[in-house]
Amino acid sequence: TAFATFVRGLPKAELHMHIEGSLEPELMFALAQRNGITLPFKSVDEIRAAYQFSNLQDFLDIYYQGAGVLRTAEDFKELALAYFKRLAADGGTHAEIFFDPQTHTDRGIAFGVVMEGLLAGMDEAEKTLGVTSKLILCFLRHLSEDSAFETLELAKPWLNKLAGVGLDSSEVGHPPAKFARVLQAARDLGLKVVAHAGEEGPPAYVWEAIDLVKVDRIDHGNRALEDEALTARLVKDGVTLTVCPLSNLKLCGVPSLDVHPLKTMLALGLKATVNSDDPAYFGGYLLENYLATAQAVGLTRDEIVTLARNSFAGSFLSEAEKAARL
Ligand code: HPA
Ligand code: ZN
Repeated sequence: TAFATFVRGLPKAELHMHIEGSLEPELMFALAQRNGITLPFKSVDEIRAAYQFSNLQDFLDIYYQGAGVLRTAEDFKELALAYFKRLAADGGTHAEIFFDPQTHTDRGIAFGVVMEGLLAGMDEAEKTLGVTSKLILCFLRHLSEDSAFETLELAKPWLNKLAGVGLDSSEVGHPPAKFARVLQAARDLGLKVVAHAGEEGPPAYVWEAIDLVKVDRIDHGNRALEDEALTARLVKDGVTLTVCPLSNLKLCGVPSLDVHPLKTMLALGLKATVNSDDPAYFGGYLLENYLATAQAVGLTRDEIVTLARNSFAGSFLSEAEKAARL
């Protein structure tokens, strides 16, 4: 349609995408075979059939299992390059991608192997697709603060290749406060700080993320809308929210896309953006998130432009780079 062509043609940045969550079943199968790993699935169709989740944890269990096929730098490079190709096809021109090093180091894959592979994919994407990207190291919040500090230590030789750190994995029971010290240590090293908050966790976690951790962006943030004072604060401070509509639908954060709060967020003056989170698992890449949400809640072209602008304004590009790309 003309609307889809318009949305695809708008330059867009993706600010919330876990690279391990872009592992398509086909590549999962191919890597399992190449690396001599036996998957508990007999076919690609069987894998896809298993992607039915009632909450975040259901998804995480299968997502960590899937990531087990990634072993070599070449695997990570192929993973990243496949994502950037999809992004470019969707009219995405910049991405700030999350990765979960502990998922790999805990099974004996060296931190440097992950970095080398992802960086090679990012490099090639910029050269061949014109897509720029940055890396955000996420600490798994279901693990300990000590483990996060050990991971930050492993990252120190790679600091100039990292834009920031984040917090992901199981939210409820693991508030931002648990990682306030390690996130501060990362900030002291010159890294940006983001955190998943208000995906399943309460508004109190979003308060902690802004007041205690002083994050540069909130990932998701949906449940902030339950708290008027919090919403007002996010508006006043112009905090970017990296919203992931199809993820919210698949993880049952919303019962249907028709009642997704994205349009409300924009109406309230929140700096919302649209993102795919884990596109291989949630059934859509960046453009599909824009189009499905636009269709369901009735986004205008002006609202789409606002979302695209918010994606660059909220990115970790320099002010000069932003001005050139908005
Ligand atoms: N939430 C928390 N952790 C995650 C997610 C998510 O949506 N995707 C990958 N890790
Ligand atoms: Zn996420």
